[in-house]
This record gives sequence, C-alpha cells and structure tokens, in this order.
Amino acid sequence: MTLDELNRELAALHLVGFWSGNVTGFEQDIEPKSAFEPHLWKWQHIHEGLLKARELVSLEMSERRTVRLANPVGAGWATPTVHMSVQLVRPAEIAKAHRHSLTALRFVVRGGGAHTTVEGERFVMSPGDLILTPNWTWHDHYNGSAEDIVWLDGHDGPLVKALEVIRVEMFGRKQQPVEAPPDLAIHRYGRARPYEKNVNFPDPPFKYPWEETYRALAALAATKGDPYDGVLLRYANPRNGGPTFRTIGCEIQMLRSREKTKQHRHSSHTIYHAFRGAGRTEVGDRVLEWSAGDCFSVPSWQWHGHENASADEAILFSINDRPLKEALGFYWEEPRSE
Ligand SMILES: [Fe+2]
Ligand SMILES: [Fe+2]
Repeated sequence: MTLDELNRELAALHLVGFWSGNVTGFEQDIEPKSAFEPHLWKWQHIHEGLLKARELVSLEMSERRTVRLANPVGAGWATPTVHMSVQLVRPAEIAKAHRHSLTALRFVVRGGGAHTTVEGERFVMSPGDLILTPNWTWHDHYNGSAEDIVWLDGHDGPLVKALEVIRVEMFGRKQQPVEAPPDLAIHRYGRARPYEKNVNFPDPPFKYPWEETYRALAALAATKGDPYDGVLLRYANPRNGGPTFRTIGCEIQMLRSREKTKQHRHSSHTIYHAFRGAGRTEVGDRVLEWSAGDCFSVPSWQWHGHENASADEAILFSINDRPLKEALGFYWEEPRSE
C-alpha cells in the first residue's frame, strides 16, 4: 500500500493523518497570525449610510437600524471575536426589548436624551457615555429626544457564533417596565456599597458617564502615561474591578498633543473609534489616518503605534477581546525593539 492510498482510505472514513498536510504541522516555529486585516472605516461613509437607512429602514422591518463594520476578509465581522456596529434611532422610535447570549455595550457618539433600559433600570444616554448590557439582560432603547441619536454597538457576536451558543428571547412587549429607582447601579456599585446576596448577572448592567471618564483622563494627562497607549483607562467591572466583561474589555485613551507612542503587539484584537481629534495609527505595514468619528481595527499580533501630530488632544474609545484571551491563557504582549 502507498501512503497516498492510505490517505484516501482514511479520508473515505472521515479520518485524517497528521502527516497529510491537511492540518497545521508543528515541525517549525509558528507565530499567531490573524486572517483579519487592519481596516479603517470613515465616519462620513458610516454616517451617510445611516442617514440613508434612516429613510429606507424602519424598526418594524429591521429589529435594529445598524451598519456593521465588516472587515474585508471577515464574513461580516470586524474581528473573529468582538464586533462593532453603529446604530441610529430616530425621535420617538423604540428599539424593542429583548435579551440574548451576546454581551453588548453602547458608546454614544451623536445626539442625546434617549435612554436604554436594562433589567428594569433606565440609563439616560449622552455623548461619551458607555452603557453595559451584559449577556441575558433584558434591554430596549427609546429616543424621546427631538434629534437622532447615534451610538456604537459593541458585542461578542463572532465569538458567540463560533461557540454555537447564539440564543435570543423577545420580551413580548415593546418596552420592559422601569422598576429600579434612579441611579440604582451607581449606588449599588459605588465605593460604599451593600453586600450582594443574590448575584443575577456576573457582569452587571452599568453606565459610565462621560463627565467622570473625561475628568479622569484630563487629570491623568498630567502624568507620564503609558509608552504604548498614552493616557489609557480601562472601564473596570463595577462588581470586581476587573475587565469590563468576561469576554470584552472596554478602554478609552487620550493621545496628548504631539504624542507619539512606541510600538508593541499583543494577542488581542482591538476595534477603535476616534471620539475626538485626529491622528494616525501604524499597523504592520499600513498607516491608518483617522479623524473624529472614524473606526479602525488592529488585528491580533500586529505591531502598532499611535500618533497625534496635532495641537489638540485626541481621544480613542476601543473594545478588545483581551479578558477572554487572558482567562484562557492566550494573552501575550511584547514591545518592539528599537
Ligand atoms: Fe440587543
Ligand atoms: Fe496596543
């Protein structure tokens, strides 16, 4: 019998020899390599698409009016684990109540005065606010203001899909009742807080108001900062101070005027949104020139560094899969030697 004949015989039985070349060989050094590319999505294109969808797409037709950031090689996803879409809600519209196994978050970029209700607690939405809708929490959105509101929807859809655990449930009514007293989450997870006797959700619903976030960034701008990220803040899990979610980390960073960071690489995927200012990010052999509103992705294990060449500060909001990789022992980070 020849080796080819053996391979064919095994293949007919749905078996594959490790030697056959159809599986990754381990006979050489291998570095992590993402199939996803660095990509820049211009705000002008995202926003124009949303404004056209505003007229063409109703919330009766589509559960959510969102435009997805689809990586050129990503089958509709921005990265293989975490994803970002941009949503527009017109005045008086209700995005119906549902819950799902996806962990999700909203970062408000335009408009204000709408609200998201999560597990019976109402969170008012203003630009720069981050609102968490952890997995399996009921959530709905209502725009009671006189102007459109636009926010980023971050979630772990690609991961949940790959794990084949997508699960969705409709609430049955358009909106859930608001039962929690105002600012419940803030009081429940403040510095003086009650003991939690019944933990319903490992990652709790929460809102990080922009004023607080910006105050911290502005104050820490007087410190040295991080050589790779400028002044970077993690949004701490309100319960335990760890990563924002078990599957998604949320971060915000300020690149000060004329700040250029050193390059590093890490095994987490990151999707950025330029909330304020303008700058450039080198990723591998690509240079992404971004300005306010643009979104861009930095795939795993690619060398990257940021630069703000302007006289004004620049602020980047980002989401990443670092908590997931850390929990599983797959997170590595290294500086680029100069
Ligand atoms: Fe949802
Ligand atoms: Fe980085």
